[in-house]
Amino acid sequence: MKEKVFVSRLIPDEGLALVLEAFDAEVWQDELPPPRPVLLEKIQDKVGLLSLLTDKIDAELMDLNPQLRVVSNYAVGFDNIDIPAATARGLPIGNTPGVLTDTTADFAFALLMASARNIVQGADYCRAGKWKTWGPKLLTGVDIHGATLGLVGFGRIGQAMAKRASGFGMHVLYYDQYRREDLEQSMGVTYADMDTLLRKSDFVSIHTDLNPTSYHLFNADVFAKMKPSAIVINTARGPLIDPVALYDALSSGKIRGAALDVTEPEPLPMDSPLHTLDNCLIVPHIASASIITRGKMAVMAAKNLIAGVTGEKLPTCVNPEVYEKGTRK
Ligand code: DGY
Repeated sequence: MKEKVFVSRLIPDEGLALVLEAFDAEVWQDELPPPRPVLLEKIQDKVGLLSLLTDKIDAELMDLNPQLRVVSNYAVGFDNIDIPAATARGLPIGNTPGVLTDTTADFAFALLMASARNIVQGADYCRAGKWKTWGPKLLTGVDIHGATLGLVGFGRIGQAMAKRASGFGMHVLYYDQYRREDLEQSMGVTYADMDTLLRKSDFVSIHTDLNPTSYHLFNADVFAKMKPSAIVINTARGPLIDPVALYDALSSGKIRGAALDVTEPEPLPMDSPLHTLDNCLIVPHIASASIITRGKMAVMAAKNLIAGVTGEKLPTCVNPEVYEKGTRK
């Protein structure tokens, strides 16, 4: 008899096929995530959970079913999961690093370009029938070549963003708690402390993870240190930016613009004042959304799930220390 797992949303076929072949899988078919009580009920008779970043995986859920052997998250980020709680319970957590790096960096750079050069405003202008003639001052934006990009976070995606920026003739500064002197010369990037980066950058792109110390990292103090001409780009996690401080900075001209793939909360409610601002470009958390990448993420998530249920080490495990103490059986 096949073992039972729960898949909390329809994932691309490449990964789903592996899950369906290996397990007796219950797959949540709705467009919206399973409501919390439903998720809690669904996992009670399962040995594995393939979760999404929209599912809160906490101690309550882990304790409801001690037979749950693995949680495989369909994302590189895992701020939706209480990792210390999972580790304390011997529960391995999988994620999908690497495969989405370039796709996400492509998109972050697309947001940078779109906000610098008013691409969305231009499309809206044409669609609204406002295009009457060529105009010397029509929708003028700011140059990308020759500008300075500040990367906050210099992991895989930050580095991929730096490669794109150097191809566009930008100067690249980075701040990270781990300085990467080994990459500075070859990648043409310069380390800067956070204040220097904020002061010098024309574009600030966020590539750090969300944890208790980075929550609202971008707050009123930070926006006050940025150039009034600066544009901030966020493809990491919404709560890295304080939305009230961002609205104030954008509406008062403390900074020029923002381009957000992620918001706090998600989805951003329609009554959020950020929706009223022309200088705030918001898209629905789609930076990794290329067909190929989402398929690769599905395969990785499926392989982590299969490994966890069969008692193998997860190919990509967020908390490998669980293997020192012994995992749930
Ligand atoms: C992730 O993987 O963490 C992204 O936010 C979605 O792909």
